[in-house]
Amino acid sequence: MKTRVLGKQGLDITEIGLGCWQLGSAWGDFVEESMAFDILQTAVDKGVTFFDTADIYGAGRSETLIGEFLKGKDHNIKVATKYGKRPDVAPDNYTKDSLRRCVDDSLQRLQMDHLDLLQLHCIPMNIIREGNIFDWLREIQEEGLIRYFGASVEAVDDGILCMEQDGLQSLQIIFNVFRQKPLERLLPIALEKGVGIIVRLPLASGLLAGKYTTASTFPDNDHRNFNKDGQAFNVGETFSGLPFEKGVQLTDALKSMKPEGMTMVDFTLRWILDHDAVTTIIPGASLPDQVASNVVAESLQPLGDSMHKKLAEFYQNDVHQFVRGVY
Ligand SMILES: NC(=O)c1ccc[n+]([C@@H]2O[C@H](COP(=O)([O-])OP(=O)(O)OC[C@H]3O[C@@H](n4cnc5c(N)ncnc54)[C@H](OP(=O)(O)O)[C@@H]3O)[C@@H](O)[C@H]2O)c1
Repeated sequence: MKTRVLGKQGLDITEIGLGCWQLGSAWGDFVEESMAFDILQTAVDKGVTFFDTADIYGAGRSETLIGEFLKGKDHNIKVATKYGKRPDVAPDNYTKDSLRRCVDDSLQRLQMDHLDLLQLHCIPMNIIREGNIFDWLREIQEEGLIRYFGASVEAVDDGILCMEQDGLQSLQIIFNVFRQKPLERLLPIALEKGVGIIVRLPLASGLLAGKYTTASTFPDNDHRNFNKDGQAFNVGETFSGLPFEKGVQLTDALKSMKPEGMTMVDFTLRWILDHDAVTTIIPGASLPDQVASNVVAESLQPLGDSMHKKLAEFYQNDVHQFVRGVY
């Protein structure tokens, strides 16, 4: 699989990675351990070399499973994890001590002696603005506990602020056909500064795969049920901020624009990869077959200028006004 370099002289990782939120238990039905290993193994078999996780996913379960899976294997997988959402840290315990404690815990669960990439996990703007946290990150980087640091952010302005920090290797953002705002300012700045871009929610929580109808439902413990209107956290993290029924309607409209021979997954992931500023996409998967179909986009031709123009107009005219939440 083709690779791109994350940030200036950073990790060389595949254009398609794997989002590992689903391996924790807090997403719909519990993903059994054997299923989690099958998902990870399918990713490896398909050539994926980048896993994204967080200490909070399944209260550490996602990291633990990745650690168990990689243990003793001769592999070239790079694992990115996150700090900042554990209940003993959020909303107001962002200290050097809590950072060190969380890094130690992640290292233990992942069974590694250093973290390839540690990302701040959508931490409050005032902490970013104050800036001390970046000094602590640089400190633990010098000690060799982390190789690189980056930030996962919700809003374009948060991302731009983070990019003022020396040594920031990557930004993780929500970017897809339904969420094109980063194109205006964030992506050009990232390109200019050499900050790598990791794209989460590439399928708008599954909407863009085109498999849902307005009658589709989700389990009680699935954020696509309990956070569909932002009841638990930023609504942007669920269906990219679109009301579910509107998202289904817009996906149906997109289906008529899809080039022949492509699936909706191919079409919408290819659109993301066509942007030079993007380093990698991290679709989440609850089944091994999904991993297999998500990697196809990297082998396809770019969509071409006229399709990009059409999708820009579609976003401006039909989508943009329905996107809710911090953006
Ligand atoms: N704040 C943050 O930093 C943050 C927040 C959210 C996510 N993330 C990261 O980003 C990753 C990706 O985001 P996400 O998982 O929320 O959104 P996503 O990748 O847009 O959607 C994932 C969902 O789409 C469906 N899907 C995936 N591949 C498919 C395929 N080939 N065909 C049909 N359906 C498919 C599955 O739904 P079903 O399970 O219903 O089949 C899957 O659970 C996460 O795993 C996590 O690592 C980070």
